[in-house]
Amino acid sequence: MTRHRKTTIADLTERKQTGGKFSVLTCYDYSTARLMSEAGIDVLLVGDTYGEVCLGHATTLGVRLDHLLTITEAVRRGAPDAVLMGDMPYMSYQPSISDAIRNGGRFMAEAGCDCVKVEVDGQSLRTVEAMATASIPVVAHLGLRPQSIHLHGGYKAQAKSAEDARRLVDDAVMMEQAGAVMVLLEAVPQRVAGLIAERLTIPVIGCVAGPHCDGTVVVMHDMLGYAAGHPPRSVKVYANLHDTLLDAFRAYGDDVVHGRFPTADNAIHMAPAEYERLRELVGGRRKAQLAAKPG
Ligand code: KIV
Repeated sequence: MTRHRKTTIADLTERKQTGGKFSVLTCYDYSTARLMSEAGIDVLLVGDTYGEVCLGHATTLGVRLDHLLTITEAVRRGAPDAVLMGDMPYMSYQPSISDAIRNGGRFMAEAGCDCVKVEVDGQSLRTVEAMATASIPVVAHLGLRPQSIHLHGGYKAQAKSAEDARRLVDDAVMMEQAGAVMVLLEAVPQRVAGLIAERLTIPVIGCVAGPHCDGTVVVMHDMLGYAAGHPPRSVKVYANLHDTLLDAFRAYGDDVVHGRFPTADNAIHMAPAEYERLRELVGGRRKAQLAAKPG
């Protein structure tokens, strides 16, 4: 899909109104952002899953605000026309509303985001409201909230009972009323996600939430088959980067060890006359050094 101008959140809302869908991918660096932009991906989320897939942490909790701001800025440079969603890391907004505004503002002003995502529930309404009032477009991440993993007791599907689902529907409606520009639902039953998408006028992005949402997000490493082993059932895999990269790294190592790379074709060349002069210079100096040696 070719993009002719910058995509905005208003475009996504309009697309929802006309029954259209949009694509969201996580992205963590400049070069990949360029490719995603060229491919016409609508929204790039610089997720705190960076901590897991790029830094090797077991959870998202260890990601630092300044680090995430730096890579978000790089993604913006690679994809100036996509909607850029910053992900506010653990403890960058939970301590106080003023932290949420100050740090959310950094994602907007320093990293060039179109919106920022915060993991919330019904108790976070005042935070979302205050951020919206401070002109920070907020994406309310509901359902499974990986930053609260120690409260949830694991990565479990949410809102599976009618009562829990009712609470989630209410929370989503309240987030829209509080000024959120989008809602992201993680790990909720598809029919619950569909019901919420139907009720809200703002776009609803699903992450393991089935086909009825307005947008869908997956972690780039999962859809690329980057990690070893089986990808989660919830993800459709579009490449086998794991095997492709492994083969390439092995072939490179083998070539270097066996002298097949680099060859003269990969080298920088000097004019023959210059080289002859160099030989003379080097040779001459050696002789001079020898001559200077006592005895
Ligand atoms: O950090 C992230 O990548 C996310 C997505 C999984 C929704 O929050």
